Amino acid sequence: MTRPKVVVTRRWPQEVEERLAETFDVTLNETDRPYGKGELIAALQEADAVLPTVSDRLGAELFANGVRAKILGNYGVGYNHIDVVAAKAAGIVVTNTPAVLTDATADLAMTLLLMCARRASEGERELRSGKWTGWRPTHLCGTQVTGKTIGIIGMGRIGQAMARRCHHGFGMEVAFYDSQPVSVPGVPARQLPMVEDVLAAADFVSLHCPGGGENVHLINERRLGCMKQSAFLINTARGDIVEENALIDALERGIIAGAGLDVFEAEPVIPPALTGREDVVLLPHLGSATSETRIAMGMRVISNLTAFFEGRIPPDAVN
Ligand code: 8YV
Repeated sequence: MTRPKVVVTRRWPQEVEERLAETFDVTLNETDRPYGKGELIAALQEADAVLPTVSDRLGAELFANGVRAKILGNYGVGYNHIDVVAAKAAGIVVTNTPAVLTDATADLAMTLLLMCARRASEGERELRSGKWTGWRPTHLCGTQVTGKTIGIIGMGRIGQAMARRCHHGFGMEVAFYDSQPVSVPGVPARQLPMVEDVLAAADFVSLHCPGGGENVHLINERRLGCMKQSAFLINTARGDIVEENALIDALERGIIAGAGLDVFEAEPVIPPALTGREDVVLLPHLGSATSETRIAMGMRVISNLTAFFEGRIPPDAVN
C-alpha cells in the first residue's frame, strides 16, 4: 500500500518527526522558516495531508483552485489561522491538539501573572544593566497576589487549569465569563453574566477564549475602561482578542496597571510602544513550549492522521 504523502510546515521535536516517518511519506521544511502562500498552495496540491502551525495563514483563497490534501492536522489547539469552513467546502478535515497543552499554557499564564505582579522583568532588566544599587524598603514594590481576585474570560480546559492554580495555589477568588454555563470541579468559581462584570471585579484578568470570529478585539477601549486601575491583563490565548492600540493607550493613560502578553496581533511584530514600557511583560508565544508538551502535540497530530487514513473519524476533528 502506498504511504500517504505528508507535508510538515515547521520542524517538530525529533522523536515525533521520526514516529511520523514510520507510517507516512514525510516532507519536512528543512529551512524551518514559515511557508509563504505559494509554498502552502503547493503543499495542499501535492500532499495527502498538510500539518500546519499557528505561523501559517490558511485562508479560503488557498483552497480555491482544487487541492489534493484531505486533512489539515494542525499542530496546536487554536486554529483561527485556518478558514475551517472553506476547508470543509474543499473536502478537507481539520484537526487540532486539545488537552495536551492545557497545563503548559496555564503555567505560562500564571508565570505572566506573577511576573507582572512582582515586577520581575523590570527587576531583571535593572540588575542586568548594572543599575541595581542594593536592597531598600521601597525598591520595586509590586502587588500581592495571594487572596486577590482572578477574572477568567473563557472557562474551557486552560481557563479551568488557570482557575485551579489561582485558587489552590494562591487562595484567589475566581470570577469568570463564558458564553456557556460552566462549573469548575473543586473550585468555588463565580460565573458572571457579562465580560464587563468580570473585568470590573478582577485584580488580574486572564484571557482563555479562542481567537478570531466574534472574539476579535473583545478587549477594546471600552472594556479596558471597565477594569480596575490597579488591575493587570494577561493574554496567553490569541493576540487578536486584544485591540493592541487600545491596550497601549490604556497603559499610557494609567487606565490599568500593566499587562503580561504571550501573544500579539501581528506576530512576530511587536509595537515599539509595548517593548518600550516597563509595566508590560512580553514573551514570544511560549504557551505550549515545554519539550514534553511539544512532543505530546506531535503525537496527537499523528493519532489524528492515523485515524483518518485508517478510515476512522479523527478524534480531534474541528470541522
Ligand atoms: C502552539 C498555541 O504552540 O496551540 C496553540 O493554539 O497557541 C500554541 O501553544 C501553536 O499554536 C502551535 O501551532
